Amino acid sequence: MCGIVGYIGTQAASSILLEGLRKLEYRGYDSAGIATVLEGEIHCVRAKGKLHNLESKLAGEDNPARVGIAHTRWATHGKPEEYNAHPHTDTAKRIAVIQNGIIENYRELREELKERGCQFRSDTDTEVIPHLIAEVLQQAESMEASPLVSIEPSPFLEAVRQVVNRLEGAFAIAVISADYPDELIVARQQAPVVIGFGQGEFYCASDTPAIVPYTRAVLTLDNGELARMTPLGVEVYSFEGQRLKKTPRTLNWNPVMVEKQGFKHFMLKEIYEQPGVVRSCLENYIDSHWTAADHRHSPIRLNLSADLYADLQQIQIVACGTSWHAALVGKYLLEQLAELPTSVQYASEFRYAPSPLTPNTLTIGVTQSGETADTLAALAMEKQRRSGHASEFQARLLGITNRPESSLGDLVPHIIDTHAGIEIGVAATKTFVAQLMAFYCLAIDLAQQRQVIAPAQLEQLLAGLQQLPAQIEAVLESQERYIEQLAHDFAETQDFIFLGRGINFPIALEGALKLKEISYIHAEGYPAGEMKHGPIALLDAKVPVVAIAMPGTVFEKVLSNAQEAKARDARLIGVTPMDEHEAAETFDTVIPVPHVDELLSPIVTVIPLQLLAYHIAARRGLDVDQPRNLAKSVTVE
Ligand code: AGP
Repeated sequence: MCGIVGYIGTQAASSILLEGLRKLEYRGYDSAGIATVLEGEIHCVRAKGKLHNLESKLAGEDNPARVGIAHTRWATHGKPEEYNAHPHTDTAKRIAVIQNGIIENYRELREELKERGCQFRSDTDTEVIPHLIAEVLQQAESMEASPLVSIEPSPFLEAVRQVVNRLEGAFAIAVISADYPDELIVARQQAPVVIGFGQGEFYCASDTPAIVPYTRAVLTLDNGELARMTPLGVEVYSFEGQRLKKTPRTLNWNPVMVEKQGFKHFMLKEIYEQPGVVRSCLENYIDSHWTAADHRHSPIRLNLSADLYADLQQIQIVACGTSWHAALVGKYLLEQLAELPTSVQYASEFRYAPSPLTPNTLTIGVTQSGETADTLAALAMEKQRRSGHASEFQARLLGITNRPESSLGDLVPHIIDTHAGIEIGVAATKTFVAQLMAFYCLAIDLAQQRQVIAPAQLEQLLAGLQQLPAQIEAVLESQERYIEQLAHDFAETQDFIFLGRGINFPIALEGALKLKEISYIHAEGYPAGEMKHGPIALLDAKVPVVAIAMPGTVFEKVLSNAQEAKARDARLIGVTPMDEHEAAETFDTVIPVPHVDELLSPIVTVIPLQLLAYHIAARRGLDVDQPRNLAKSVTVE
């Protein structure tokens, strides 16, 4: 949700912190702030709105401070105003805190502090933290024998440790103090924190893009851990005060991955990265030499343990947003290819109304970030429900993610890494296509192992998969300019309908979500056959209808449904192969895509819908990468 970044070392902290915020702005952009320890005082500057407002406020400041923290906010408690922006300080302004997450028991802590005379300056849950830390430090100072000795090196660390033990919720915090200028304390409870190791300088952040320009040696804090960072090194402790031994790992990606590389927006760059993402999945997971003659073994190399598949009777998938759409495509594949009954649920609904617990069920969580609170909570609940049952049943939890090192990776025993590379644009594009590829691999693997797919069909499907990167490239090369022009027609449009059937129904949902998210145009996705049961009342000449019509089981049906829309004067845009004459006659406008096996078509049909949403939003002059009210990963409930 929010982005936190911290620095301690030998250089001026503020420019490093600002650069870190630029890299994390995708996590939230309602307000931003920075605090450093300067000449024995906390120097705090905050601004409402996007990061450039904070940058303007800081322009001309020559701040030599060598320790500091900074924050970019996605508002949860309190409006996006400067007084609610982080960092928050205690009354004497000796301590500054930034937080990502939610402190669930903040009301009771706030009342308690108020009763002791504390005055609050913000509406946030976070502000209780600096006040509590200040209280613990004051109490310690006023006692002859300080109780703050359980963590030897630092009373400041011990005060933070005592306070984090009082907080409930999912949070990550970073804290500095004017009285302990050589320390930066960071703590994690279910919200991500990474620490970067430089030469005599150390970094912390919610996510690696803020750190990777400086170092690739990183350490991820686990839940219930806090770290004391000084210019001499990093010490990690448990919330109970135990010193822990942790070793940094090396990140295998580079700073260029978080640059736009000549594209106007990250979203467009990420749309263009999709052929590469599909290629990388093919290389990682599919044996390209497999033929029907090899039918005794699977062409898929997901390296999942055999326990996951044994006696499997059904699958349930939990996810949110775009990942939920990928799960719907997954359901289609798992049912039609692997013949396994599959249900897909919104994680936020599942956690309060779970399906009855059934044995021989595999639960899959799909989340590109691996940090979505609802998805993690649904999976944690499922894990809890299974404890006490047979160990094979407990182990039947699988995550599909682009960030295997995330909280999801800690939660579930099995992971499919989608290898899409970091995605910065808030609207998911390449990670969606990568999730679809993971489902193709899983469904094919299950179908082969359950022996419910004919070797010849499998060979044909694999050949089709190998062609997808070139087919996506063909759509990008031949259609982007055309779609850019087409977008001019819709700059003032207020409502859009997207229609699809079968495996392309989720793509209609995804096309509508992309448009809503970044252009703020109202859009709905429907199964094309369902339109006549109500939504058709919305149609008139002002409501364009985008229909996905790919040759296969429902092709004729979609064309008939499109005719029904045409009869209500709607402008019809078809995503369909150019040489389908019936389709060409039906649609007012055709966005041509290559002929693709219907089962594989979502990977191709989604591309023009992403481009359409992108160009309409860009045409409307909107902030494509950071749409209003959204954040890249939703780490709160
Ligand atoms: C996608 O464009 C959205 N930004 C959003 O719906 C997203 O897919 C959802 O929040 C789930 O995120 P996750 O995949 O990181 O769990």
